[in-house]
Amino acid sequence: MDKYVRGYLDTVDDVLRNPLVISMKQYNHHAGISTHFHSVYVSYTVYKYCARRNMEKQLTDDITRASLLHDFYLYDWPTEKHEEYHIFYHPKEAVKNIEKTGIIKLNYMQKNMILNHMFPAAQMPRSLGGWILTAADKYCATRELVEGEKCFRAIYNDIDKEIDDAGTVL
Ligand SMILES: [Fe+2]
Ligand SMILES: [Fe+2]
Repeated sequence: MDKYVRGYLDTVDDVLRNPLVISMKQYNHHAGISTHFHSVYVSYTVYKYCARRNMEKQLTDDITRASLLHDFYLYDWPTEKHEEYHIFYHPKEAVKNIEKTGIIKLNYMQKNMILNHMFPAAQMPRSLGGWILTAADKYCATRELVEGEKCFRAIYNDIDKEIDDAGTVL
């Protein structure tokens, strides 16, 4: 098991157990990659970045938890259309869903991180967390497109198995 999995789970396992978060497995992010896979990959990458730099625990928690929910838009974007293009619309929908469901209580930085994660198609991030998420999102999406799910499949399975084993989901 990758050495960061345990710390990552300690940071986000309550969020990962949420049925609406699990429901992201049914939405396709890009070919063959679910929004759930992508969100776990991005937030794991963010967590690893923070942990390697020994960032303060509270800040690492806040950045990692917001990153897990950065694409919490809960619709099938190629078929479901909205008043704006998905690229502009989905960060606002993610924040709306987080606030409506109360999965986590967003602080100002976390809200801004999610709203601006599509920079340069959104406003510039205004915090370190925002820049880390924006960079990790692009890095992970690029690897998903180039390599497919093998870029993160082994670690994803380890994480998913831990949540399943706890017996509270699925
Ligand atoms: Fe996004
Ligand atoms: Fe994303």
